[in-house]
Amino acid sequence: MAEFIRELKRTHSCGDLTAKSVGEEVILFGWVHNRRDHGGAVFIDLRDREGLTQVVFEADVDQDLHAIAHELRYEFCIGVRGKVVSRGGNVNPKLKTGEIEVHAVQATIFNRSETPPFLIEDKIDTAEEKRLHYRYLDLRRAPLQKTLMARSKMNSTTRTVLNRNGFLELETPFLVKYTPGGARNFLVPSRLSAGKFYALAESPQLFKQLFMVAGFDRYFQIVKCFRDEDLRLDRQPEFTQIDIEMSFVTQDDVFTVVEELVTSLWKEVLGVEIPKPFPRMKFEQSMREYGNDKPDLRFAMKHTDLTALVAEHKGCGIAMWSTFATVTHGQIVKALVIPSSANLSRTETDKLEEIAKGMGAKGLARAKLADDGTWTQSPLAKSVTLEARAAINAATGAKPGDVLLFQFGKESQVHTVLANLRLFLGKKLGLIPNHGPSDAQDPGSWNFLWVIDPPLFEYDDEAKRWGAAHHAFTRPHDESIQYLDSDPGKVLCYRYDLVLNGVEIGGGSIRLHDPVVQGRVFAAMGIPAEEAEQKFGFLLQALRFGAPPHGGIALGMDRLAMLLSGAESLRDVIPFPKTQKGTDLMTDAPGDVGAGQLAELQVASTFKKP
Ligand code: AMO
Repeated sequence: MAEFIRELKRTHSCGDLTAKSVGEEVILFGWVHNRRDHGGAVFIDLRDREGLTQVVFEADVDQDLHAIAHELRYEFCIGVRGKVVSRGGNVNPKLKTGEIEVHAVQATIFNRSETPPFLIEDKIDTAEEKRLHYRYLDLRRAPLQKTLMARSKMNSTTRTVLNRNGFLELETPFLVKYTPGGARNFLVPSRLSAGKFYALAESPQLFKQLFMVAGFDRYFQIVKCFRDEDLRLDRQPEFTQIDIEMSFVTQDDVFTVVEELVTSLWKEVLGVEIPKPFPRMKFEQSMREYGNDKPDLRFAMKHTDLTALVAEHKGCGIAMWSTFATVTHGQIVKALVIPSSANLSRTETDKLEEIAKGMGAKGLARAKLADDGTWTQSPLAKSVTLEARAAINAATGAKPGDVLLFQFGKESQVHTVLANLRLFLGKKLGLIPNHGPSDAQDPGSWNFLWVIDPPLFEYDDEAKRWGAAHHAFTRPHDESIQYLDSDPGKVLCYRYDLVLNGVEIGGGSIRLHDPVVQGRVFAAMGIPAEEAEQKFGFLLQALRFGAPPHGGIALGMDRLAMLLSGAESLRDVIPFPKTQKGTDLMTDAPGDVGAGQLAELQVASTFKKP
């Protein structure tokens, strides 16, 4: 009899066959998804990455075949030759191949399987640790297969769109020199230069700028980046960027390319047409209304900044606000309104205070509006002046039954607390679509936003000096350059983030290619020329050799995949992810190394086993 694989080649995938193929002889390869023994006949669902096909082994066909059918168990890897037969009235509408079944005439077991530690089903409640330990089995499950197939499509679409726009796909090193600033780097000891270390590149930033200096004009790369950060659901220590750099461009030119790329991804993966151009919001407005630079605009609940109002009313009669009787730098008062429709119980409102405290707040002042606009259920009610109360009600737009939440103090702290409370309430009150498959098809459920024009510098309270808010090579707005020496806090720059539904999916900037302005930026940060040379020497030198005006962006590929597939965590869209602790449960990385290996590297560990 002809041999599978060598002579009998696969004719179809397990997701291909329909009523059109009835009567054909086919060859399928795959895994036994399940098996039902009906005495006379054994039924199996055969699975590959494209789907499931029902295969029937009839008792009276052939003894050998029947023996094989009886031996089959979950996850055996097999080949089947057989005839496509209509299921007649027994169609299974849940399967793509539900109109037919294949009646086996020949089969082979390529490999048996141990009993799998969990079922290869779409939905399982197996602990994530176990799934990660057996990741290759977890990856057999249909949702993960779909996600990784979508990622493959994302890669090919990215290449098509960027090639069409004249971009070259060029590579940059992973083993690079450590430069200060930015994320914490992973370090790699050098054997050949004993005592010295490489850093694993946190991004190709400097190299892509050097490509522009070298005249490559338009570069992209789908590239791994490495950052030794504290991990969260949307952060992995190694992740993938679509990295882009372009010469002779304005911010608008970068946006045009990125919008074409991103809308093509949504069209190819989900079949959804996202309207272009994407809306834009200034950084200042984003911070004022939402308390962060990645606002989720799928629901309103804006913050109201009351700092000026409180100063105007000399603290409003509220003792805790007496320090705000004059506007003080870096200290603010803000409010958030919970609509009466939320109908939160007092215990639920009290719980909000606990959440706020969990984020470092001292407390969460609040007041409920009565029909006549007076405040109830609040320690502030007695002391607030009538005028101030009316002014706050008007400024926040609060109506009877609404609850006002107040936060005051250090600006960054107030923003963190209120931005997170806004998101918590948005979810709790059901204002955010849950992004099931039906939402995903609605272009309106995808809220893309460019956040633009942030300040170039931020004040470092500890070091008592200005530092680069992003990096020192971002181009200031021409009209801002005048403030570089006199008022650095006022300098805005061409830095932009792309936000989708409250997640930062990309960020970049127009770079500072002018060595003279570059020198002034370093001066504003109190970095002497020699120190700048020491830190960024090769880039500064390159900029002096006729560097073209240039700019770029990097998109977080994993975050795009997470949003496109409706996943909750990056771990669901990365084939072999790390846990929250940065470990790989399957290979058990990071692992111990031998004393000999360390000696060769001239590295000694000070770690003592507890
Ligand atoms: P940035 O640091 O903003 O910019 O990174 C760009 C995008 O990469 C994604 N991202 C991450 N995704 C998963 N895990 C992480 N730990 C992680 N860190 C970042 C985010 C982010 O928006 N060189 C600059 C880009 C430029 O200026 O051109 C850069 O790396 O989606």
